Amino acid sequence: MIRRTKRGIKTALILIGLAVNYSCTDENKDFVNSNEDYQIIPKPLKLEILNGRFLINSDTKIIGKKELEKEGAYLAEMLSIPTGENIVFEIGENKSKKGTILLALDNSIENEEAYNLSVKYDVITITGKTTKGVFYGIQTLRQLLPNEIESNEKKTNIIWSIPATEIIDSPRYVYRGMHLDVGRHMFPVDFIKKYIDLIALHKMNTFHWHLTEDQGWRIEIKKYPKLTEIGAFRKETLVGHGSTAKKDREYDGKPYGGFYTQEEVKEVVAYATKMHVTVIPEIELPGHSLAAIAAYPELGNTGEQYEVGTRWGVYPEIYAPTDKTFEFLEDVLTEVIALFPSKIIHIGGDEAPKKQWKESKFAQDLIKKEGLKDEHELQSYFIKRIEKFLNSKGRDIIGWDEILEGGLAPNAAVMSWRGTEGGIAAAKQNHYVVMTPGHYCYFDHYQSEDKENEPLAIGGYLPVEKVYSYEPTPKELTEEEQKYILGAQGNVWTEYLKTTDYVEYMILPRMTALAEVVWTSKEGKEWEDFKGRLNHFSKRYDVMGLNYAKHVFQK
Ligand code: ACM
Repeated sequence: MIRRTKRGIKTALILIGLAVNYSCTDENKDFVNSNEDYQIIPKPLKLEILNGRFLINSDTKIIGKKELEKEGAYLAEMLSIPTGENIVFEIGENKSKKGTILLALDNSIENEEAYNLSVKYDVITITGKTTKGVFYGIQTLRQLLPNEIESNEKKTNIIWSIPATEIIDSPRYVYRGMHLDVGRHMFPVDFIKKYIDLIALHKMNTFHWHLTEDQGWRIEIKKYPKLTEIGAFRKETLVGHGSTAKKDREYDGKPYGGFYTQEEVKEVVAYATKMHVTVIPEIELPGHSLAAIAAYPELGNTGEQYEVGTRWGVYPEIYAPTDKTFEFLEDVLTEVIALFPSKIIHIGGDEAPKKQWKESKFAQDLIKKEGLKDEHELQSYFIKRIEKFLNSKGRDIIGWDEILEGGLAPNAAVMSWRGTEGGIAAAKQNHYVVMTPGHYCYFDHYQSEDKENEPLAIGGYLPVEKVYSYEPTPKELTEEEQKYILGAQGNVWTEYLKTTDYVEYMILPRMTALAEVVWTSKEGKEWEDFKGRLNHFSKRYDVMGLNYAKHVFQK
């Protein structure tokens, strides 16, 4: 295969040389690369375009110390499958032998997630302060290889070569997340892993797994089997957006449900660990809890027997603030923290209507007894109790920005979704913040103005350009306060997203744009340049068999 015929006879000869099965020859030492050979997203901090190409072939070896065994094995598998070569990782000292990919740790690198990648025609070196940094160097190497590197089977007629470069790279934010709601619709474990792989490919580091909802409880809790026997299944689902008038709403009449067993959760967490992705589980409280209350009516305020939710929107049912509820939630969270090593646990906190607490004698008596001002302070009391429990187990909480109402729990972080105001207020109170404002980070919104020709979505309009334009650090904050902005996250609510294809369509390419927002330096961001790289990146989506929105490529 001749890649660039325009370069003339010398290039052709070099490429013929490369195609022959020998590596690190002097011919590929002088190969002239161009800007086109370095299409990396998110854009690295510093990248040099150099002459020469490193060829992957049967002589390629990956070498590093024992601490890098997992990353080495990951790279070996990534290279071996599509090339058809048996490339292995060997534990050893960093000898610069020809044909070697060296993985190394270097404590002098400042940022925990930073890496340096040096590609020469004969040796590649990936260095990080931590194994995570080395993993990100491998992700960059992945993107410097032909797109066919994403193939799950052997590909022939590909020259597996990597352009020479010196890259110094480091992320802008420490929190770079993607959320997925599996309450409204759920997706197979294999898809969850694919989602995590995409997160890693984009050098994002957090998967926020929204596991409980009014319309379905999705995680097995051994102590409370009815959560999944009853709470994981709804009898039917609203058709389309549904009418505001209850009597006009149409339902599909089809039971829907399912859940992840603890074994499956462990499998997901193990995969995420390998991919250097933290999984933050979300157990919603006190609202969005109808499925749990349907399973255990004693957790509700009225004692009524409810059904698991079948329509979208906000339900009036929320947990009663009783000792029974706290005992239940502490039991649930005990099982949850045994499954998830994440330091941060998401406790929800959004959209909890206070009507039932206003009408409940127990809740009103508790407000008086605790000297609380109103139901917002009761919510704050509720969340503080949960925080105290989780802190005692060595975990911290994060909640949606409603947890500001009635007073923030002492150590809570805030996820700002109703615009940026909640995030600004929390940072001003010296609390950590993850920005997920709807106008920039809600990937359940439409991607084009021509809504008629798009699959049904919840509403809104969020084109990829707008995601790319997002600046997560609000200018309203002082330099000191800005330090509390940990990063940003794309949210994927799935009321209308019934299939994995549709989830892919909604996240791509918006997630790719967000990845650059949270990784690349502010100065390094440039839309036209990104758009060019995105065009190239979309060919990688194709090899990965991903479904994606194409509006941005059609302009
Ligand atoms: C939310 O979108 N209700 C956090």
